[in-house]
Amino acid sequence: MTSTASVTKNTALTIEKVGGRIGAVISGVRLGGGLDEDTVAAIRAAVLEHKVVFFRDQQHLDADEHEAFGRLLGEPVAHPTVPSVDGRYAFAVDNDHGGRANQWHSDVTFVPAFPAFSILRAEVVPPYGGNTLWANTAAAYAGLPEPLRVLAESLRGVHTNDYAAVRPNAVSAELRQFRQVFTSTKFETEHPVVRVHPETGERVLLLGNFLQRLSGLRGSDSRAVVGVLQSHVERPENTVRWQWRTGDVALWDNRATQHYGVDDSDDHERTLRRVTIDGDVPVGADGRRSLLLSPESVPEPAHGIASGASTGGALTEV
Ligand SMILES: [Fe+2]
Repeated sequence: MTSTASVTKNTALTIEKVGGRIGAVISGVRLGGGLDEDTVAAIRAAVLEHKVVFFRDQQHLDADEHEAFGRLLGEPVAHPTVPSVDGRYAFAVDNDHGGRANQWHSDVTFVPAFPAFSILRAEVVPPYGGNTLWANTAAAYAGLPEPLRVLAESLRGVHTNDYAAVRPNAVSAELRQFRQVFTSTKFETEHPVVRVHPETGERVLLLGNFLQRLSGLRGSDSRAVVGVLQSHVERPENTVRWQWRTGDVALWDNRATQHYGVDDSDDHERTLRRVTIDGDVPVGADGRRSLLLSPESVPEPAHGIASGASTGGALTEV
């Protein structure tokens, strides 16, 4: 298809690709909990195809409608360790509490059934910088030379939220406090490095910043192999970069992407709100499922259902 825009059936949506391999802008929709079935189906199909979709001018969306829109895609889930401040699922992604996300990662991969989708809404954007990048991990897998695919499919990786293990660098007191909350329960989960996507059937690389080590490899070997595979994720051709405006919403398939919040807006306020939608337990190319190594189960959060608590029955997120 040569055209860059497509209009979907039975809805007024227009979908325009941003990059060749990832990202599309959806226009002609006012997000919220009252969308009709055809529109929701078109949005879901678009995010599965383009991995991340962007909606401009959604200033009307408040915390409740943000969550209500999320419910159309699945069950909203709470962060497993960071408590909700207002009894809602929306998770603050601000740069004022040390929660900077300038590392490539998929959300919450330190638990087995990590979120299928994340929906991020921009409330306050800085005058410059603070863009977010996403990378297509299915394209990264597809671009691997055959010997590296074979290697990747044989590997499993241990993901943890224990920053001391992942990034032992000295940090500010503020950041240390945030990390204390973030790591109040230390999770370790072993995932396959190549996951079969439960909806598209695509194979995707499951790596990112929460990955601490590859099972069965020593530290330096593990870092070297991860570096080779991760470099395919981060290839510019596999990425898209979004410059936020107030009212923008980004919806991504957290199972087929990594993202990176660029930390270059100095001390300007940047306030985004994230709702995450329940996922299921990953299954590797060899049919083996992910395994929670510790603790024995995902504890109940103060509010609602914890991300990762699903036992991963048949497509619990749909
Ligand atoms: Fe994130």
